Formats: sequence, C-alpha cells, structure tokens
Amino acid sequence: MEVRVSAPGKVHLIGEHAVVYGKPAILAAVGLRCHVSAKAADSVCINLKDSGTKAEFGIEEAMDFAAEARSVWNDGRQRNDFSALFAIMKKDNISPLKAMVGTVMSELKPEAGVSLGISSEIPVGSGMGSSASLAVSLTRAIAEMNGVRLSRERNNEIAFRLEQLLHGSPSGGDNTACCYGNAIWFIKGSPSAVEPVEMKGMRLAIVNTGEPERTTGELVSAVRSLDEAYRNPRMDELERLAHRMRDSLASGSAENTGRIFDKAQDLLAELGVSTEKIDDLVSDVKRAGGHAKLSGAGGGGIVLCMHKDAGKIMEIAGENGYMFWETGLGAEGVKIETE
Ligand code: PMV
Repeated sequence: MEVRVSAPGKVHLIGEHAVVYGKPAILAAVGLRCHVSAKAADSVCINLKDSGTKAEFGIEEAMDFAAEARSVWNDGRQRNDFSALFAIMKKDNISPLKAMVGTVMSELKPEAGVSLGISSEIPVGSGMGSSASLAVSLTRAIAEMNGVRLSRERNNEIAFRLEQLLHGSPSGGDNTACCYGNAIWFIKGSPSAVEPVEMKGMRLAIVNTGEPERTTGELVSAVRSLDEAYRNPRMDELERLAHRMRDSLASGSAENTGRIFDKAQDLLAELGVSTEKIDDLVSDVKRAGGHAKLSGAGGGGIVLCMHKDAGKIMEIAGENGYMFWETGLGAEGVKIETE
C-alpha cells in the first residue's frame, strides 16, 4: 500500500527573525505544496523526483546518523554555535534526508523500512518553508504507512525536531504553519503559543529573487552576532508592527498591510538580511505604487509584493527574469491525498 501526503509552503507576513527572540510572527500557508509518497520496504529508499537523485541505506544506518546529528546538535546548543552541525548537513544532498528519516524512525520505531518518493512545488531555501513542509509531510507519511495515527500536535512536534537538525535553533513557526495551514499568530516557547489569524481577502504577488547563498541557520546566527543595543530596539519595533498587522489583516485594509510591509522590510534590511537584488526589487515595486518585503530568513529568496494591479508586479519580475506567482493565502495544512 502506498500512502501519499502533502503539506503546504508558508510565507512570513511579519515577524521573521524577531520570532527567534520571543516576538510574535504571523505566518500563512500558501498553495505550493511538498508531496511525499511512502511504501513499505526492507531498507530506506529515497527518490528525489525533482532532481532524479536516488539513495538507499539501512534503517540502523539512518537511526545512527540521526543520533550522531542530534548529539552534534546538543553540543551546538550548549556552545551557541551550530557550525559543526551545518557542516555535516551540507556534506551532500542526502545527509539532511538521512537525518530526517532516521529521526522519524527513532521516534516512531516502525517495523519496516520505507521507500519514499519526494517532489515539491516549493522553491528550495527561499523563505517559503520548503524544509518545514518536507519535515511535516515526511513525518506524517512514515507514520501513516506504519498505521500510526499522529495527532497534528505530535506531527508538528516531530517535524520540529527535524527542523532543529537542519537549522540549529529554529523558532518552530515554519513547521507549525505548514502543519496546521491557514494563517497563524505564533510565539515560540515550550509549548509555543499558536492562534488563528483572521484574514479578509488577502492576495499576494510573490517574486523569487533566487536561492540565498546563506542558509537559514547562518542568517539567524548573523543576526545573533549583532550588538544587542542595535538589535533589540528593531525587534521591539517588529513586535509593534506584528500587532498592527493582525488588526489590519482582520479589517482587510490592503493599504495598511502594505505600509506595514514597507516598515518591516526597512527593519529587516537594517538587520542585514536583505540583499542588493531584494532592495532593487523593493524600490521598483514602491516606485510603481506597491509595497514589498522579504519573507523568511532573507539573504535572497522570495519577496512578498502588494499592488492593486498584480500585472505591474509581474512586469517588474519579468524585466528582472524572476519567477512570479499570484496567490491567495491560507491553504490547508498537512493532509493525506486521496486518488
Ligand atoms: O527562510 P525560512 O523559511 O527558513 O524562515 C526562517 C524564519 C526565521 O525567523 C528567520 C527563523 C525561524 O526559525 O523562525
């Protein structure tokens, strides 16, 4: 029997980076999804359908590697430096998957191995939650294949452990948004605070400026290394903006939401996570009468744009050779796909 699961990507409407410091973030699920199929096998077989990469290893090997990665993670947490973990994960493109599958297997203790088929519509490492969406759908697929009915909470909890191995010390916002879907108000903690966010008819034009050179973990570390006296007031301002955005989304005022986008983008640029390409795109969008901000860790990746006429954003994206999507927000969270 083959099980097929999918989970959405997400965008950060506000609060990325600030969320790492205990501030609220608003995230919304988008229509692009990660798809994982799973069927029983003797070993662990992985087929990355988009790139044609295939790998096979033993269940023990996956669990041992996950245990080793977890121990390097524990070390990194104590020293507040995850560079050793990132080095292991960057070794090749199968290591992160081996650690993820090994972790899920250690958590669920399944009797059989698994053959996984993975494909994703979400651009990789670009602020749209590609890894979180994979973590959530992979966990659910392996559980379902073994007849384990995971609650959404437990699904999210395991996915968070996978995200920790990939990003060091993530807030958990990404996996929560991909697991639950819709739009959420998120404050990290144990447990994290998660509330639904009311959104009236919010549509976005999303432009992808290209895959960032630095990973989420590296960008989070770069912000952490800023002087606190410089960083903290900007995080406080992002918190105030998050509250204003929640009201603005509920009232459906696109103009207000757009103005909050612009302020958030200025602050994220001051924190050093924007790029020249993003800055140029944001200037073009503003000159055309719209609003724009980066989404997620930054250092490249996607920019959320708002304009009364989405065609204007499409033109600007086209002139720069960037990918463009127009999308509503609030897609369904992780789900089992039926034929
Ligand atoms: O770029 P993404 O999708 O990995 O989002 C990262 C968001 C941060 O706030 C920068 C980190 C986090 O863990 O929340």
